[in-house]
Amino acid sequence: MQLSFVFSFLLLSASFTVGGIIPFGKPAVSQRADVGQKLVFSHFMIGVVSDRTSAAEYDDDMKRAKEYGIDAFALNIGTDNYTDTQLDFAYESAASNDMKVFISFDFNWWNSSSDATAVGQKVAQYANKDAQLKVGEKAFVSSFAGSGLDTATVRAAAGLDLYLIPNFNADQDLSGLDGAMNWIGWQNDGNNKAPSGGNTVTVADGDNAYLNALGEKPYMAPVSPWFFTHFGAEVEYSKNWVFPGDLLWYARWTDILRLAPDYVEIITWNDYGESHYVGPLASKHTDDGGSKWVNDMRVHLITRPHNGWLEMAKPFIAAYKAGETDVGPHIDSDQIVYWYRPTPASTDCDATDTTMEPADNSTGNYFMGRPNGWETLTDSVFIVPLLTAAGTVTVNSGGTVYNIDAPAGASSWSVPMGLGAQAFSLSRDGAEVISATSLKEIKDECVCGIYNFNSYVGTVPEGPSDPLGEDGLTALTTGLKTACEAAPSLPATPPATVAPTATGTATAGPTAA
Ligand SMILES: *[C@@H]1O[C@H](CO)[C@@H](O)[C@H](O)[C@H]1NC(C)=O
Ligand SMILES: *[C@@H]1O[C@H](CO)[C@@H](O)[C@H](O)[C@H]1NC(C)=O
Ligand SMILES: *[C@@H]1O[C@H](CO)[C@@H](O)[C@H](O)[C@H]1NC(C)=O
Repeated sequence: MQLSFVFSFLLLSASFTVGGIIPFGKPAVSQRADVGQKLVFSHFMIGVVSDRTSAAEYDDDMKRAKEYGIDAFALNIGTDNYTDTQLDFAYESAASNDMKVFISFDFNWWNSSSDATAVGQKVAQYANKDAQLKVGEKAFVSSFAGSGLDTATVRAAAGLDLYLIPNFNADQDLSGLDGAMNWIGWQNDGNNKAPSGGNTVTVADGDNAYLNALGEKPYMAPVSPWFFTHFGAEVEYSKNWVFPGDLLWYARWTDILRLAPDYVEIITWNDYGESHYVGPLASKHTDDGGSKWVNDMRVHLITRPHNGWLEMAKPFIAAYKAGETDVGPHIDSDQIVYWYRPTPASTDCDATDTTMEPADNSTGNYFMGRPNGWETLTDSVFIVPLLTAAGTVTVNSGGTVYNIDAPAGASSWSVPMGLGAQAFSLSRDGAEVISATSLKEIKDECVCGIYNFNSYVGTVPEGPSDPLGEDGLTALTTGLKTACEAAPSLPATPPATVAPTATGTATAGPTAA
């Protein structure tokens, strides 16, 4: 409903190997997911990787996703002239990396009234490739939006068995589908914006609407970490809002373990412009203008080059696929994952922000200044310890120190954000186990002049930065009101911690989104 490029509805077919969970030693290319097998997908925007020139340029994404337990990418396609080239590369890379993929038709671009035949034909073009996800013998196909699509025509045009799990609205006719996907992974007002004026629709409300509408049919549930987009008049798709994020990523995964839906889709792998990417910044991609709030905003672990949010999700993915509710047994080393916005909400960027002028608002998505919904985010540092045994997690947020008695397994916490350096450590029996100071300070300052409500994510142990590549920075300066270099700018070494001046008490996080 609100993505900047493309979204999805599709089917997949062909063979399928789920990393490590298929018990029999059949050749990978002949394996298919079993009907009823729980699978995790991540939404992958083909529209942001039009600059890729080979299948090999997909290899890192495929390997990385698979390593975290993601079974397939939902390849979101519009109708651009590079689509087939990139789908060919993606299918080829997936096949050589023992990953699976399926097409997710984006009905911002495909027409649900008139494109049913074209959708079926596009499915047919790819569904017999080795990397196509199949459930049983049926090719998996999904979408973004697409309610009303004539599924009988799609199936006839495809000419093969489809497993159709598109993102139709729950109140539409779902009878022609094999299941349905819910896109709305964020608490909202029922009208695609953050809750306000007493209107609150929770993510669980969305789950219930779909589960009621689907009956026994499979449900694909959304999981998303964040949402912030901030496009001004410098582009044609001006839009500026947030959904409540904060500890959503943890709370929602906790929900998922209890709910145990048939399928889970992580929204997204690489939609940088809406800040809900969990894949790496370094993944080769173009710049829709989102680099203004994406540059420097994720880091990787040093020991294993992993993204913090994916790192947090890893034991949850494993537990979900095993039908378990306890992530503890899936945590094999101590880690702390943390995240926070780079500035407090009170920082005033009105004089230099890129959304202070009128812009096209035919979508109703454009707001001036701080993003619509900003009041629904708290000025906090969020902490998720993933521990092999109970320990004390110490957070120094700009000089205020918090000692957290963290249990074994996963837990979530927040502390008020303090300006300056952010330092984290774990100790047991008085001895430090791991520690790191974040490369990103919280500042009362408008980086590149703008309101940046994206989230920085770090891990302890700390790792090298995950820099945007050249192609991902091409539009950084477009429309900016202040001088700002289009280059990664995190320091190589962390800032000095702030000498402790006070202590505080951390708040335990929610366990339901
Ligand atoms: C693809 O479309 C773009 C934008 O419309 C155009 O500039 C480009 O020349 C087209 N490329 C091909 C190979 O047709
Ligand atoms: C979709 O196709 C229908 C039927 O051809 C047409 O009336 C409608 O205008 C199209 N929608 C868009 C957004 O192009
Ligand atoms: C854009 O449209 C929405 C929906 O009508 C409205 O709430 C918002 O105030 C508008 N934005 C601007 C800048 O006028």
